Formats: sequence, structure tokens, C-alpha cells
Amino acid sequence: MVITSQKKHDYKKYVVNSNLQYFKPHATKIEKTFSEEISSSLNRSSKFVNPKFFYDKKGSKLFEKICLLPEYYPTRTEISILENLKKNLPPFINDKFRIVELGSGSSVKIRLILDIFVKLQEHLEYFPIDVSEILTESSEELLRDYSNLRITGIMDTYDGGLRFLKDYDDTKNLILFLGSSFGNFSPDDGFEFLKKIYSTMKSNDLFLIGLDMVKDKSILESAYDDSQGITAEFNLNVLSRINDELDGDFNLQNFKHSITYNEKHNRIEMYLKSLVNQSIVLSKPNLVLNLKKNELIHTEYSHKYQISQMTDLFTQTGFEIKQTWFDEKKYFSLTLLSKN
Ligand code: AVJ
Repeated sequence: MVITSQKKHDYKKYVVNSNLQYFKPHATKIEKTFSEEISSSLNRSSKFVNPKFFYDKKGSKLFEKICLLPEYYPTRTEISILENLKKNLPPFINDKFRIVELGSGSSVKIRLILDIFVKLQEHLEYFPIDVSEILTESSEELLRDYSNLRITGIMDTYDGGLRFLKDYDDTKNLILFLGSSFGNFSPDDGFEFLKKIYSTMKSNDLFLIGLDMVKDKSILESAYDDSQGITAEFNLNVLSRINDELDGDFNLQNFKHSITYNEKHNRIEMYLKSLVNQSIVLSKPNLVLNLKKNELIHTEYSHKYQISQMTDLFTQTGFEIKQTWFDEKKYFSLTLLSKN
């Protein structure tokens, strides 16, 4: 492995072979640690845990299981839309593109996109941006199957990765943000995030974003509270992670997975409900938490969108909407955006 330093972005470059390289920011970055974030978000009257912390090894496995649940419609619905892009996307692709993915999500989904582009161009560059090291495994698998693929993994936050991408070179980018991860943002944060993407894009870049649509309440509720209890396990697992990494003594039996659909804000709200009055000690940050019976720890928002809301959101950011694609039931959408 060759390690060189790329001064311009203060990133370290790791070359594995001619088709695979990684960029990692130098460790000097000012980022809050897990311990700092958890202590401050739990040590307040309205307690929360940022949903990004769900995805440790066990949490990522549980999320993969969620994606296969009969009640969890988003994944298979989005895949059906992606399958149709094979005929729907090429009319928008008039030149050579690089694929940039925010979060190196599911391999099924990225393969559907890569399949389209390997037919359109001789060489294809793929830039997954992800904080996690999972990048390395998934990249090697993709390279086994796509001979004309070149992968540059960017191991950083979305912000960092987007900063890295800005002014990288003249190749057009198709930026992907799939899976309705956008739904996790509060409206304000989501708007800021879209503005950041917009400002990262060059005039001919494209952005493809997945959003989950407003639908019948009972469908939404069962998608986030499945009959096999996998979503409950996924939600509770964040407490195990805190126990493991911060020396905590959460007793998972004393908490219950709880969700509601908030019709005013069109969002699923996910909580961990304390079943008893209890004190929890986190030894690493040296924190004592007192929870009352029925007190809630908020763990996730999953926003759903109406077509008009979606259009407003994109146009207010400045985007031009090229096309929105839906599945048959209009459960999920993928929208192609450009800078106008
Ligand atoms: C990964 C954010 C898209 O909100 O549907 C699934 C996470 N949480 N079940 C979603 C999740 C509970 C998921 N996203």
C-alpha cells in the first residue's frame, strides 16, 4: 500500500491497486466523539440519541434484516424504481459521468446504477463517501464483478466528503443519496444539507435523491414496528452499543421500542421508553442518568413527503427538477435534480 499526502485537501491517500484507492482526512479534524455526543444528548431534559449511532456492526446487520421485512416497504419499492432507471435514466446522460454515493449503502442498489453506466461508458469511476470502514469490503466485491470500474473511497462524513469533491476535477458527477436517509434530518437540517449539495455541484452535475412518500398511517406504523420485533431490536441495540463502548449499565429489559406517526409533521418518531424509574451509569464519560417511568429517549425521525412539499423543498434550494420517478403505488420516489 502506497501512502502519499494530498496537501490541497489535507487528506491521506491510500493506493491499494490501480482500481482502488482511498482518501482519509488527517486525524486532526475537530469532530465530537461518540462519548461526547452521547453524554450531551442524554444529559438534558429531552433526551435523544442521534440515529447515525444505530449503525455499529450489529446495528448494520439488523438494518439489513429490516430491509427484508414484509412490512418494511421502502427498500424493495426503491429497488423497483431503480430497476426502471435502466430505461428512464439514459436520456438524461449525455456525457461521461462519475458516480458519487453519499453513504456506501446497499450493494443491490449501487449495482443497478453501475449496470446502467457500464453500458454507456468505457470506464466508470465510483466515489463512495462513508465514515465507516465497511467501504473496503464492499469495494473489493464490486471490483471483482465490474472490470472497467475504478473506485475511490472517501472515508469521511458527508460534509467532509462533499468538501473533498468540490473542485476535484472537471468530470461530471452524478451524486446519489438513496434509501430515504434524507428523512432523518429535521426540516432545517435537511434544507441546509440540500444547500450544501447544491453548492458542491458543478453546473452539469446531477443529483439523484430518494424520498419516502406520505401514505396510510397503518402502513407506516407497521413498517417501523414490525411483527417480528426486528425494528425494536434495532432501536434497543443502540443502548447495547452505549453499554459496550461507554461502559454503561443500561438494562434493555427496562426499555420498550415505541413509535408514533406524527401527522402534523408527516414523520415517524421513534423512541426508547423507560418502563421504570431508573438510574443508569455510563462510566466512560462518568455520567449518571435518571429516567422516570414512561420517559422517552428520542432516537429517530423518519420524514415522509407529499409531492408538493418535495417540489417546494427542491425548488427553494435552487434545484431544477429534471424528473421524479415513483413506484406503482407512489410509496417512494427518486428525483433527478440539476443546478439551473
Ligand atoms: C435508514 C433512515 C432510511 O428511516 O426508514 C428503519 C432507518 N429506522 N427502521 C428509515 C430505519 C427504523 C431508515 N433509514
